Amino acid sequence: MQSYGFVGTGELTAAIVEGLSSDVSDPPAVFLSPRNRDLAHDLAARFPNAEVCHDNQQVLDRADVVVIAVRPQIVQDVLAELTFRPEHVVVSAVAATSLAQLHEWAAPARRVVRSIPLPTASRRASRTAVFPDDPDARALFESVGDVVVPEDETALATFSAATATFSAHLAQLAAIANWMADNGVSQADAYVAHVYGELGRTLADHDGTLGELARKHETPGGINEQFRTASQDDDRIRRGLDDVLTRVKGQ
Ligand SMILES: NC(=O)c1ccc[n+]([C@@H]2O[C@H](COP(=O)([O-])OP(=O)(O)OC[C@H]3O[C@@H](n4cnc5c(N)ncnc54)[C@H](OP(=O)(O)O)[C@@H]3O)[C@@H](O)[C@H]2O)c1
Repeated sequence: MQSYGFVGTGELTAAIVEGLSSDVSDPPAVFLSPRNRDLAHDLAARFPNAEVCHDNQQVLDRADVVVIAVRPQIVQDVLAELTFRPEHVVVSAVAATSLAQLHEWAAPARRVVRSIPLPTASRRASRTAVFPDDPDARALFESVGDVVVPEDETALATFSAATATFSAHLAQLAAIANWMADNGVSQADAYVAHVYGELGRTLADHDGTLGELARKHETPGGINEQFRTASQDDDRIRRGLDDVLTRVKGQ
């Protein structure tokens, strides 16, 4: 069975390792870089298949498939200190870092893949965008969800920008719950989390367009239509996404 190395043991690595390991009868061996120390040791304590290495190089020495999950600002310096083998498969989760840069910094590794894993990997529900397609990257991410392969690297950046909208969406729900609380409701957060959690299940099961689904949730002249008309601003959303896309492409 394939083993996996992780350089950068933060929130994303923790989610992937949990998905690979939790309640899995024969989980793959996982080699973790020592930072973040508490998180790495916590994962190793929870999952017998996970081991904390002495340093980043030992991760590369122990695994053929290496996930790079440090922040974009330090990835060049981190990779510059490491010695890759030609047969390494380098799977980068780092935003705004191109294949050309990664090939240069991880040379002589021949196979380099960019990916956008999501925190839902922890419950094996990440739909991970991967480019280019690669059998080992695919096997890794199909263990923690499923895989989508964009047409090219530019399309991958568009997926990345779309995933940057999560906190805005959650912040809108927080604003709704806070407004309910200000109006005297004591269970507002739990209520909003529940009804939108169920709406999320409807969304996940829907196979038509999202516009159709939105229309199904409003009555002409009704209160859903009233709030949508008062709050929807597609131009603002598109401008925000355009700006994120520019950043993700490194322009
Ligand atoms: N979180 C997401 O949902 C998500 C989704 C897709 C892609 N990504 C990308 O994945 C990467 C990681 O994101 P994250 O949310 O997991 O960030 P994070 O929680 O900040 O994790 C990054 C980890 O890198 C460690 N680190 C710092 N310097 C290091 C070094 N020299 N060698 C090895 N590790 C080092 C940090 O340890 P210390 O705390 O000790 O500094 C930290 O634990 C980012 O590039 C992000 O763009 C994240």
